[in-house]
Amino acid sequence: MAKLIVSDLDVKDKKVLVRVDFNVPIKNGVIGDDNRIVAALPTIQYIIDNNGKAILFSHLGRVKTEEDKKELSLRPVAERLSELLKKPVTFVPATRGKELEDAINNMKDGDVLVVENTRFEDLDGKKESKNDPELGKYWASLGDLYVNDAFGTAHRSHASNVGISSNMPQAAAGFLMEKEIKFLGDAVENPKHPFVAILGGAKVSDKIGVISNLIEKADKILVGGGMTYTFYAAKGLSIGKSLVETDKIDLAKQIIAEAGDKLVLPVDNVVATEFSNDAPHKVVEGDIPDGYMALDIGPKSVAEFKDVLKTAKTVVWNGPMGVFEMPNYAKGTLEVGEALGDLTDATTIIGGGDSTAAAKQLGIAPKITHISTGGGASLEYLEGKELPGIAAITNK
Ligand code: 3PG
Repeated sequence: MAKLIVSDLDVKDKKVLVRVDFNVPIKNGVIGDDNRIVAALPTIQYIIDNNGKAILFSHLGRVKTEEDKKELSLRPVAERLSELLKKPVTFVPATRGKELEDAINNMKDGDVLVVENTRFEDLDGKKESKNDPELGKYWASLGDLYVNDAFGTAHRSHASNVGISSNMPQAAAGFLMEKEIKFLGDAVENPKHPFVAILGGAKVSDKIGVISNLIEKADKILVGGGMTYTFYAAKGLSIGKSLVETDKIDLAKQIIAEAGDKLVLPVDNVVATEFSNDAPHKVVEGDIPDGYMALDIGPKSVAEFKDVLKTAKTVVWNGPMGVFEMPNYAKGTLEVGEALGDLTDATTIIGGGDSTAAAKQLGIAPKITHISTGGGASLEYLEGKELPGIAAITNK
């Protein structure tokens, strides 16, 4: 369903409350990856270019103690935003009260203000995370319009997304939210075929929802990463010391039966004696020998996966093919990622923190059609779930 977009609003002279997802990695005040801040720029720029006042809300990390507040202030994010926008950004170290209200009332058209981490409110009865009705109403009272651009938080029903939305006459999507819904939505609901999903990562349990939703829709599901060996166990293959979720073997059997030849498991693997880059390792086909653990897919599997990818028109990738952080087990992820980057006539989408990190590490990110800013949110979207943050945006 089409959503109201920020460009449908008349933002001139208006106080526009914008929920962004600035939940970025920060260590000792230094931002590790500013991708989510960069991704929010088009919406913020649009509001200031059109003489609105942009008042930005975001969470950062999980705030459980007073002590956590020191590491989890949004101040460094506001500073980075100011550099990116090339203009001053006001940071208010409060989530409510006179200081915040005065700062908002003093804003001029085109100004940008960042409110302190919304999860500071969690120290007082989890008000943000439990969508406290009074908090959503209070935040809504600070502005004239509401824009939700926080796709990464769309799977949460919190005061700063769902709470504010429900206290405003309408809620619009920002441009990032619009883009995420377009790419992930088209892939799940209206993909061009052949539609191939590449699913990896350690646990089957994390991906069951996605596999179940995509069995019907995808033409092929390529499986790699640690979750492979639960499927191996389900097929009666030996798995040595490889990762396995024994309580998911029956479920894996069901998936294998349901998916038939849509589900493509690796035929060979790189196996090692220990979970270490320096451990003795080799390539084996089929059964994993005793005393070995599988840490990457092997060259025959890579060739098969590439063959499937060659004709794909839509590809969604979530989860690495092996322990890509260790050079000896990075090849499967690297080559599958490169094959994805080489597709010129397909929509390629990467979702999830690990595969995004892999794409960046491997340098293929610029060749991918869309890299989602959502971790949990993109997974839940691919599972076909309704995300509360998106449901709360006004339909057109
Ligand atoms: C994320 O990084 O996935 C989002 O910002 C949501 O964060 P959360 O898992 O702490 O709610």
